[in-house]
Amino acid sequence: MEIRSVGIVGAGQMGNGIAHVMALAGYDVMLNDISQEALDSAVTLMTGNMDRQVGRGKITPEEQASALARIRPTTTLSELGQTDLIIEAATERETVKQAIFEDLVPHLLPHTILTSNTSSISITRLASRTDRPEKFMGFHFMNPVPVMQLVELIRGIATDEATFSACRTVVERLNKTAASAEDFPAFIVNRILMPMINEAVYTLYEGVGSVQSIDSSLRLGANHPMGPLELADFIGLDTCLAIMNVLHDGLADTKYRPCPLLTKYVEAGWLGRKTQRGFYDYRGETPVPTR
Ligand code: CAA
Repeated sequence: MEIRSVGIVGAGQMGNGIAHVMALAGYDVMLNDISQEALDSAVTLMTGNMDRQVGRGKITPEEQASALARIRPTTTLSELGQTDLIIEAATERETVKQAIFEDLVPHLLPHTILTSNTSSISITRLASRTDRPEKFMGFHFMNPVPVMQLVELIRGIATDEATFSACRTVVERLNKTAASAEDFPAFIVNRILMPMINEAVYTLYEGVGSVQSIDSSLRLGANHPMGPLELADFIGLDTCLAIMNVLHDGLADTKYRPCPLLTKYVEAGWLGRKTQRGFYDYRGETPVPTR
């Protein structure tokens, strides 16, 4: 089955990046959010990110114009039911995702494939609440979506081969690379990345190093493009904590216990870049460590 149209639920950090790359690859995109304001700022952000790509000669102004014209923002979730592929990219909370799929199901075409951009929640469990577990899978992009090469494709226990292969074809058309992961907590990237970030927070919590020394150690000592605390702020500390909790609960191993300092930052509402404060304070000209 050929995918021509894509519905994206959630116009936040991930949703707008997914809409950006899908539209540039020629898909008709419906972008849904409950908030008109979030949709408006997503369009502004995509326009700005594409302007940057035009400025660097990565895309032409014509490609930008036709991509933006292919994106239709809507606050009505049911309209997405008319698309061939739906990618849910809402908040990383299972109850929110379940409610979205329950609302969508009565409006779907018989062939519509349902996917979630979840970074850690069980695909099999999400699928079991829909009418089509065999047409359901994980479609996990990395942030920033227009830049990162990888997409994790995660089969639930019931996902059929036609669904997997239709999604793999979409990844190829995006000029990205798919990695196939089995449906276990946090899949591949976050199973490895989050314990590293959590360990960096423990390293800070135990006073082994400062924010700056931890980040420069990994940047300069291991050639990571960002230090782990800077990366945690970039991803969102609430998302990092949610993923550690999924690992801790799902694998029942104390090695995944979230660092109390990570919990404290989240409780303070210091969630990283999106709230202007996390392990760094972003309110001034340059980021300043908060510890
Ligand atoms: N849209 C379009 N292009 C963008 C962009 C965006 N949102 N953000 C950055 N870019 C482009 C820039 O235009 C620039 O393009 P050129 O190469 O053509 O010059 C390029 O990306 C590099 O950007 P910058 O020069 O501004 O900055 P940088 O060199 O410091 O790179 C970075 C920024 C790509 C984010 C880099 O720091 C990096 O790779 N960091 C690590 C990111 C990472 O690990 N992401 C995965 C997080 S885990 C995840 O997402 C999974 C999960 O479930 C939590």
